Amino acid sequence: MPGRGRFITLEGIEGAGKSTAMGVIQACLEQAGHTVVKTREPGGTALGESVRHLLLQPSEQAMSPKTEALLMFAARAEHLDKVIEPALQRGDWVLCDRFTDASYAYQGAGRQLGSEAISILEHWVQGSMRPDLTVLLDLPPDTGLDRAAGRGQPADRFESENAVFFQRIRQAYLDRVQAEPTRYRCIDAAQPLEEVRHALQETMQQWIGQQAKSRQ
Ligand code: TMP
Repeated sequence: MPGRGRFITLEGIEGAGKSTAMGVIQACLEQAGHTVVKTREPGGTALGESVRHLLLQPSEQAMSPKTEALLMFAARAEHLDKVIEPALQRGDWVLCDRFTDASYAYQGAGRQLGSEAISILEHWVQGSMRPDLTVLLDLPPDTGLDRAAGRGQPADRFESENAVFFQRIRQAYLDRVQAEPTRYRCIDAAQPLEEVRHALQETMQQWIGQQAKSRQ
């Protein structure tokens, strides 16, 4: 029977390059011989993807911040029960594009609900369950928003927010990294793509090595 898998999450503001980074991290994990379940939040289940649709639709612009936070956690509860926990128990490694750090950053700081409200929901929905590793792709909001706009897709409900909103989010992520440095790895995502890729590979190889040692 394999041991419990590991839970790895990826965070960053819009335009940080998360899609590319997900691929790089997945390749590193698979090269090390792990079975990877790649998933995302909000989403990852049929119900979660419906909730995602509601959350991202520009026509829901007037949604109350509390409703937004509760919908994030409703999707998360389903995701944990149906996908994440079963995978970890099978011994698979779960790689998730965003998780609760995003609720602290976007709802807690961006929407100014405060971290206490998010912490209450986190404890209720997750108990003591936390990611084993969180990779933060950090970059200035102006750079990220320019990159996101350059994709040519219509802006979703979050992407239509202003630079001040994203500045609060970036700062909240950086504060979380500083408060709990062992769980996070922060990558400078303003560097050229090749350098970001290289930094991610090095970070992952080192962390995977540590995990292998902690199992011996
Ligand atoms: P993304 O797939 O492009 O990352 O879009 C998901 C959006 O949802 C992104 O703008 C961040 C937002 N989000 C929150 O506001 N809170 C959360 O807890 C999560 C998981 C995502």
